[in-house]
Amino acid sequence: MTALVVAALAPLLVYIYPPAGNTKRSSLTVSLKKALSDLANGDATQFDAPKGSAFVMVSNYGGSDNAYGDPAFSGFAVKDQAGQLSVFAVNCSHLGCSIAFNNDAKRFDCPCHGSRFHLDGTVLHGPATAPLSRLDWKQGGDPGQIIVQGVAIPGL
Ligand code: FES
Repeated sequence: MTALVVAALAPLLVYIYPPAGNTKRSSLTVSLKKALSDLANGDATQFDAPKGSAFVMVSNYGGSDNAYGDPAFSGFAVKDQAGQLSVFAVNCSHLGCSIAFNNDAKRFDCPCHGSRFHLDGTVLHGPATAPLSRLDWKQGGDPGQIIVQGVAIPGL
């Protein structure tokens, strides 16, 4: 339920909380529902930021809603059809709604205005014009964990 509420409010929280670019960053250890080694090509797994924190977007695409340093409260680890691993913020690059993984079509869909994204984060269908924003991550010590750069969000 908490994850559902955070996902629904994430587009608003991005406006309430300032960009995290000047805030001290830390490494956030995140448990995945599916270990990276268990992801098949074309599969993705969603994860949430620990309570009281947010991930930090590291991609800066001019003209999109997502900017370098913006906070993200959830993300996706994805292995594309070629086996390339990527980790994206959940925020749609159009206006920040939370994207969802469409397993049947092997793409990310935004429920707000219909944008579609390939598994490598590039735009398949607008109105979004910029790719999904990446998160700075590395494999954790446990196969089911990754470590993502983030910031503390007091009171959340
Ligand atoms: S916010 Fe995703 S298509 Fe508009």
